[in-house]
Amino acid sequence: MTAPSQIDDCLELMQKLIEYRYQKALHHQLMKAADHSMLGIDVLVLIYHFARIADGDILEIGSFVGGSTIAAGLGVRDSGRPRKIISIEVGGRLDDHRMATKDICKDLKRNLSRVGLLEAVALINGSSFDERTIASVRELTSPGQTGLFIFDADANVRRDIDCYSDRFAKGCWIVIDDYFSATEKGGPTRIQVDELVTAGRLEPLGFYGWGTWIGRWLGAAMIFFGVQTTGAESFMSWAWAAIVDI
Ligand SMILES: C[S@@+](CC[C@H](N)C(=O)[O-])C[C@H]1O[C@@H](n2cnc3c(N)ncnc32)[C@H](O)[C@@H]1O
Repeated sequence: MTAPSQIDDCLELMQKLIEYRYQKALHHQLMKAADHSMLGIDVLVLIYHFARIADGDILEIGSFVGGSTIAAGLGVRDSGRPRKIISIEVGGRLDDHRMATKDICKDLKRNLSRVGLLEAVALINGSSFDERTIASVRELTSPGQTGLFIFDADANVRRDIDCYSDRFAKGCWIVIDDYFSATEKGGPTRIQVDELVTAGRLEPLGFYGWGTWIGRWLGAAMIFFGVQTTGAESFMSWAWAAIVDI
């Protein structure tokens, strides 16, 4: 069942989005970021908003040439509260696409530099599940201190949530692209996100752009089970197991 506070939060996000549209100068900046993004402008506006209001660091997986990274960077800058922005991109080239590039990481750095955000972002050039990447993220972040997690990479968000969720603060804003998608990423992403929602680990707050899921981190699953056995001597023994969130 949907809690009244969850409905209020969904409505508040929708309202915020419209309010930002009327902040012409800011909206123009975000529209320029959208020139370098595969995400819809509404998603970039919400990334900006979350980065601005979140307590804690920002962790992004899949920066491509920087659209979403710039939106997060502008949000942190406008918040007046410097925080870490860590963005992971495996790099390479992209052919046969309206945003084709010969060198993703080179264009990413150039685009961040053009808006004065290159120094504000810790770029990690590697795969999100590569051991060196994981070690770098763990060095740069602390447990429970990430306030915004953006996943716009491949079809396995669960893998990276399992890897990095000990970094998430309770209530960490979560942005996951390709919940709806015309690509092969759509199906697995949707199944994984729905499973996490059903398990009470993610709270949905809406869908924006072309199919981006927006929500919050509620924590690890809480599983309790008890086993009662009655032995020959009619005494009772109990076995309990628990996985509890911290
Ligand atoms: C859809 S694009 C990201 C778009 C970007 N967020 C934007 O605003 O336009 C996906 C990017 O994720 C990168 N990528 C895919 N799997 C990755 C992984 N496991 N680790 C790091 N980067 C990954 C790809 O190289 C690609 O640049």
